[in-house]
Amino acid sequence: MKKFISVKDTEDPKGLVKKAIDIKKDPFSNPIGKNKTMGLVFFNPSLRTRMSTQKAAMNLGMNVINMNIDKDGWKIEFNDGAVMDGDSQEHIKDAVKVMSQYVDILGVRTFPGLKDRNADYNEEVISNFIKYSDVPVVSLESATRHPLQSLADLVTIEEIGIKKPKVVLSWAPHPRILPQAVPNSFAEWVKVTDADLTIACPEGYELADEFMAGANVSYNQEEAFKDADIIYAKNWSSYHHYGEKPEVKEDWRITSEKMSLTNNGKFMHCLPIRRNVIATDEVIDNSMIYKEAKNREYAAQAVLQEILENL
Ligand code: CP
Repeated sequence: MKKFISVKDTEDPKGLVKKAIDIKKDPFSNPIGKNKTMGLVFFNPSLRTRMSTQKAAMNLGMNVINMNIDKDGWKIEFNDGAVMDGDSQEHIKDAVKVMSQYVDILGVRTFPGLKDRNADYNEEVISNFIKYSDVPVVSLESATRHPLQSLADLVTIEEIGIKKPKVVLSWAPHPRILPQAVPNSFAEWVKVTDADLTIACPEGYELADEFMAGANVSYNQEEAFKDADIIYAKNWSSYHHYGEKPEVKEDWRITSEKMSLTNNGKFMHCLPIRRNVIATDEVIDNSMIYKEAKNREYAAQAVLQEILENL
């Protein structure tokens, strides 16, 4: 594995889920990362991804360097051939080349701008990391995907232990304009399992076709919840009206009444979650969220271990 930015970067996603579950049983048994260094580079805030990936690297014996590049680095220029006589102080080419001299694996978090769909869906920032890095690049959430989160979510679903679960990815309300990375990624990872996936969202909030393909689509949240085993809640802004948040008149907040329509379904969310906006306290307090967060560590460890085994 030379990069990990989507499900397509692993030949055996189910095997990777199994590997994470095996690692969870004995996380300190393989110091394969001794004398190796993990670099974690953040253009955006993070709690879980930062701490779980650092913990995973340390479990493998790695050293870790953290960098909030948006706050602590020079202002980055992304345009090739730019005459850098303005605000930008360092070209992405030079920054990535240099960072990759110090580390053996480079993780990067870069959210989309949500202004220019082509730029975001061409993954302009993380593509530059892959292009210029001399070491493997791991997405800590990019413009369109969050693979470490999705892998942890599959581990959590596997642990719930239902053979062919009905999984509902449900849009839920939020006051801000959020990326599609988590739902995109969740959809593409669930589709490599035996689960039956329904994407429930208001009209106008459909994901890009490649992520909707192969899933059932419902514009009626309560209908979708019937007999569901897993409710995976997330807000996202409109892909088709890019960077916008078309008005939704129906109430899509997830309540205990809605959860009672499910097959004793489990509620999942990647966090952070806005309580009593996305879902009620009662739903959140009876959910899988902390198990998912814990599984972030073992998902990251499985990916880092696989990369280290192939360095
Ligand atoms: N779920 C997740 O990625 O959390 P952070 O944004 O806090 O890393």
